[in-house]
Amino acid sequence: MNSKSVLMEKFANKSALVAVMGLGYVGLPLAVVFAEAGFQVIGIDPVEEKIRLINDGVSYIQDIESERVTKLVQAGKLQASTDFSRLKMADAVAICVPTPLRKTGDPDISYIISAADGLSPYVHPGMVVSLESSTYPGTTSELLVPRLAEARGLVVGKDVFITFSPERVDPGREDWTTYNTPKVLGGMTLDCTEVGTAWYAQALETVVPVSSTEVAEMAKLLENTFRMINIGLVNELAIMCERLGVDVWEVINAAATKPFGFMKFTPGPGLGGHCIPIDPLYLSWKLRSLNYNARFIELASEINTQMPRFVVQRVQDALNNHQKALNGSNILVLGVAYKPDIDDMRESPALDVIHLLRQKGAEVHYHDPYVPAIDHDGIVMTCVKDLIPAVRESDCVVIVTNHSDYNYTDILDNARLIFDTRNGMGSLGKDHPKIVRL
Ligand SMILES: NC(=O)c1ccc[n+]([C@@H]2O[C@H](COP(=O)([O-])OP(=O)(O)OC[C@H]3O[C@@H](n4cnc5c(N)ncnc54)[C@H](O)[C@@H]3O)[C@@H](O)[C@H]2O)c1
Repeated sequence: MNSKSVLMEKFANKSALVAVMGLGYVGLPLAVVFAEAGFQVIGIDPVEEKIRLINDGVSYIQDIESERVTKLVQAGKLQASTDFSRLKMADAVAICVPTPLRKTGDPDISYIISAADGLSPYVHPGMVVSLESSTYPGTTSELLVPRLAEARGLVVGKDVFITFSPERVDPGREDWTTYNTPKVLGGMTLDCTEVGTAWYAQALETVVPVSSTEVAEMAKLLENTFRMINIGLVNELAIMCERLGVDVWEVINAAATKPFGFMKFTPGPGLGGHCIPIDPLYLSWKLRSLNYNARFIELASEINTQMPRFVVQRVQDALNNHQKALNGSNILVLGVAYKPDIDDMRESPALDVIHLLRQKGAEVHYHDPYVPAIDHDGIVMTCVKDLIPAVRESDCVVIVTNHSDYNYTDILDNARLIFDTRNGMGSLGKDHPKIVRL
């Protein structure tokens, strides 16, 4: 039998050993889903603490309950290791490593390169490798193929099978999970696509094969660029509405009653998370190397990155209307995670808001039920212990992230002034003398 047939059979009877490289927000849920589907799974990550926790049956990712991990570890279905040589036994490898930006704003693809270099010595005929990290079109063919096939003297689509299949996980979301969110997959060759589809289809509800790795890479960037640009549009709408003296929230809710041709996006203090603020910049960076300026992305990015400054200016104006200066005021920031009901601080606009408030001389505290302490970009703080006394003591409460378990009526009763960047106060916020909305 050829390599493809061997792999197809191993997927059909679930005897394939699946490896997941990078056990973070994307990799751990994926490893769990493959193991729950009946595959033997080995997770590889250089961080020893993560490996120890998984092997002890403990999950450090909010979306995955520890019981699921414990059950799989006890059943011998899931193991984790820092030892890359364990990859030599793997039949199928998913790479889920980070793709951040450098300080200069350029893509940092060093994690993909180090994962590929770490895997390269163990690639063997009859292995399929799928890159899941969000990245620029061309990454799979330019970075993976030379390291995983050419350097090993293997033929792609005959000996080894290489695909790109972007993860679409939305942390904190319960209706659409790793299991039931349709998964786009493009292979380097038709056989690669067939092998990759056969593998994922054993564990996930729907796989959507596309004709190439570039189409799959670009589809992921379209999804995130679409969100980033629409958020940029409503953020600019908020700025325009403020100039016009019009309530932006009422405008958006009115427009959203149109049953077709409109999709609701809401303004906020800026973009956060590991995807929306970053992925489109991978695309614009790639296009710059082809002498093309991705103007929509650049413009939306410019508006979105200005939002923390706009918020702080509005807080200053709101205090001014109460005969107070921002300088010396006691400000309580509510919610610092990048979006409601999760603990992820990556790229959170709260960090910029806190930084700018401090720059203006404010004394800043924060409360977030999901984030006990912050140690990011030179901001080192701990969450205030008691919310309501802290609300009472502050000159202004700034709602940066509208977690759903806050009791907003209680907060309103005890606050002197609230600046609400997310319309977290909802209808309470309309024309209330104590509340100023973005
Ligand atoms: N977090 C999300 O919501 C989300 C959603 C969709 C797509 N993505 C994309 O998925 C990718 C992974 O994101 P994440 O949020 O899981 O990141 P993460 O930082 O939570 O996890 C990445 C893991 O990779 C490990 N790692 C680093 N170098 C490694 C190497 N050489 N070999 C093996 N493991 C290595 C890290 O220790 C870490 O545990 C990124 O490209 C991201 O853009 C993320």
